[in-house]
Amino acid sequence: MSAWRFSRYFLGSALSITEARRFVTALLRGWPAVDEVELIVSELATNAIRHSASGRFGGRFLVSIQAHTDRLWVGVLDEGGPSSPKAFRSWTEGEGGRGLLVVASLAIDWGVWGDEHGRTVWAVLYTGPQTASCR
Ligand SMILES: Nc1ncnc2c1ncn2[C@@H]1O[C@H](COP(=O)(O)OP(=O)(O)O)[C@@H](O)[C@H]1O
Ligand SMILES: [Mg+2]
Repeated sequence: MSAWRFSRYFLGSALSITEARRFVTALLRGWPAVDEVELIVSELATNAIRHSASGRFGGRFLVSIQAHTDRLWVGVLDEGGPSSPKAFRSWTEGEGGRGLLVVASLAIDWGVWGDEHGRTVWAVLYTGPQTASCR
């Protein structure tokens, strides 16, 4: 069971990346992993807009954060589509392809749920036991 959980929808446009980052930093003030979670949410939100139906006109994505006693769970739910997240790309596929590798390197665990109708890419960060000052 989580200590607390917050979710917020954002419009699937580039401006929402900054908003999503602010949402995270406001929510996680005082947590040791705030910078990492901000970076992860930025990568996952960018992917939702770029690679899923969330980036279409009227599309949106949902950012969720769950706090547990010694870890944070963060997930970005998108609106799906034909492509699916993959952390490795071959050299022949050109530039990019490092965002999910960065997520994987920061997280103690990460993964993907869902299908072409909507996918959640999630990551877990270990924070160590937190005091009551961390909401
Ligand atoms: N939310 C997503 N929905 C569908 N495909 C995704 C999603 N996130 C990532 N992908 C796929 O996984 C690949 C790797 O993502 P990433 O490591 O962030 O690199 P980049 O975004 O620079 O291509 C993307 O190129 C895309 O094909
Ligand atoms: Mg990316």
